[in-house]
Amino acid sequence: MTPSITTLYQAAQDDRLGFWDAQAKTLVWDTPWHTVLDWQKPHAKWFVGGRLNASVNCLDRHLGTPTANKNALIWEGEDGSVQTYSYARLAEEVNRFAHVLTTTFHVKKGDRVTIYMPLIPQLVVAVLACARIGAIHSVVFGGFSALSLRDRIEDCGSKLVITADGGRRRGQVVPLKSIVDEALSTIDTVQDVIVVSHLGIEVPLQSGRDVLYEPLMAKASPYCPPQSMDSEDPLFILYTSGTTGKPKGIVHTTGGYLTHAAFSTKLVFDLQPEDIYWCTADIGWITGHTYVVYGPLANGATVFLYEGSPDYPDKDRFWKLIDTHKVSIFYTAPTAIRACMKWGDHHPNAHDLSSLRLLGSVGEPINPEAWRWYHKVIGNSRCPIVDTWWQTETGGIMITTLPGYHRMKPGYAGLPLPGIEAKIVGEDGSEVVVGKGLLTLNEPWPSMLRGIWGDPRRYEEVYWSTLPTYFAGDGASKDQDGHVMIEGRVDDVLNVAGHRIGTMEVESALVDYNGVAEAAVVGVPDDIKGQAIVAFITLKEGVVFAEDGATLLKNWVASRIGAIARPTWIILTPELPKTRSGKIMRRVLKNSAQGLPAGDVSTLANPDIVELLRAQISATMNRL
Ligand code: WT7
Repeated sequence: MTPSITTLYQAAQDDRLGFWDAQAKTLVWDTPWHTVLDWQKPHAKWFVGGRLNASVNCLDRHLGTPTANKNALIWEGEDGSVQTYSYARLAEEVNRFAHVLTTTFHVKKGDRVTIYMPLIPQLVVAVLACARIGAIHSVVFGGFSALSLRDRIEDCGSKLVITADGGRRRGQVVPLKSIVDEALSTIDTVQDVIVVSHLGIEVPLQSGRDVLYEPLMAKASPYCPPQSMDSEDPLFILYTSGTTGKPKGIVHTTGGYLTHAAFSTKLVFDLQPEDIYWCTADIGWITGHTYVVYGPLANGATVFLYEGSPDYPDKDRFWKLIDTHKVSIFYTAPTAIRACMKWGDHHPNAHDLSSLRLLGSVGEPINPEAWRWYHKVIGNSRCPIVDTWWQTETGGIMITTLPGYHRMKPGYAGLPLPGIEAKIVGEDGSEVVVGKGLLTLNEPWPSMLRGIWGDPRRYEEVYWSTLPTYFAGDGASKDQDGHVMIEGRVDDVLNVAGHRIGTMEVESALVDYNGVAEAAVVGVPDDIKGQAIVAFITLKEGVVFAEDGATLLKNWVASRIGAIARPTWIILTPELPKTRSGKIMRRVLKNSAQGLPAGDVSTLANPDIVELLRAQISATMNRL
């Protein structure tokens, strides 16, 4: 029997550790833990002494039950082709691939494996096969550039890369294998590359290094014994942007992560056996890890996957997919909702969306207007919306309303889940009961990050030095009912179309361009993407800005980092606003770029620049 939500909240409040102990017991363990939590701030160990395997919990546990014949995955390619994988078939593929990894490639527990693939079933297979043998997967989103991929491979020391010949995006081919080749051209640590023939296009294979996936699978054994992992053994590394130029390899471990992934998926999406569940995130992001792969599969759900873009071949593709596959739970990002809203109601209205019963939003604040449109036009005013706040670092949803239980308030994420403690605090750490402040998670939780790969000091500095408790990097406010509204990042991290981008990463890409002397990047509000990137640059002495200089620079950034980091505007200025000690005053840039007064400029060494900036901004952005 499922306990009522009130009972859950009560149980967590009465005995938080006992509550998590009970949640962890819903998983299959090889060895039980002896201690629920060992907390040496800021280092947590959950379910200490326990052993389990994540792939067993997502696959084996369903075999021998009616779920074995149920669809685990329904996949549609951008070209309209469909593939389904029952739990039994998915389990077999995962076993085969795990066998390939251990026997042909000698991948061992603790080895790192980088996965750079399109959103296809083989990506799920690769992830779970790594989990099965205890290899630590690092999935890199297929939209990242060769350079970003190389840095991520190098940072965690992967010796194996899994990729595909290519992926489909808006009818074009994303040449993933060529990008891998380019990434590997400047490093020699990777011994093997496995290539899935997804598109069936010819790709050069480097002999002694590159091997095709399909022939390996055909020869592999359909069973590979799972590694029994310590609860605290790493399950994966996922890179995310921070306030320096170097992305952070966020480390998640096995027992705690999986406990929260399974628990939160079931609770927040009120998962029922017959649901067709679609989370539109790519598996290259944390949302895809937790709410496409681990959470739903641990619950035996049917996961729908779509390879391509929402506007291909037409702007109704999402709604058409929901109609065709009878999707009942739909979880997406505000950027996508706002884009669809702009494209017009006739697109969703042309399809039968009556299979939907629950809608979700994640990744950035959803403005009330978009919320209402989502609720009315997509949900026909009958589907609850869960606006879920969380982060790569939190591993799973921390704050939301629960469907049919809490009152939904457009613009507010809601309340912490049972077992999660969140507070709004002032800069001194004192609690703000009603009003604005910084968002902190003030007790450890099972799916919390365990560190930054290879950089323990940075972990302590970034998350534990601003406040006495975990600092999320977000500003937030709370109303009388305790509902939390996320106000956005308070650090130098941008959120563009739900993707996290460090201003420093973009700045270092810009100054790597021949002729650029300095760069400063800020975010400005954008109707669709939430935030848009504005880059201010100065040129080196004697350098002349070409007529198409802005376009060249935008393309350069996209080629260095990935298209998600492409600046919307490049603004040329003779100088950046700086204090006498030489520090760039971003506030002046940020305010000016939004047409707001620059604010106090008395500490500027070059106050005259403010007027000049204003002129440049209005000429370039043409909207002030
Ligand atoms: C940052 C985390 C969590 C999965 C996707 C992004 C922002 C996330 C919400 C929300 C307002 C949100 C925060 C957070 N964010 N969800 N429901 N409402 N803001 O993961 O890349 O680690 O980014 O995304 O600013 O800190 P991420």
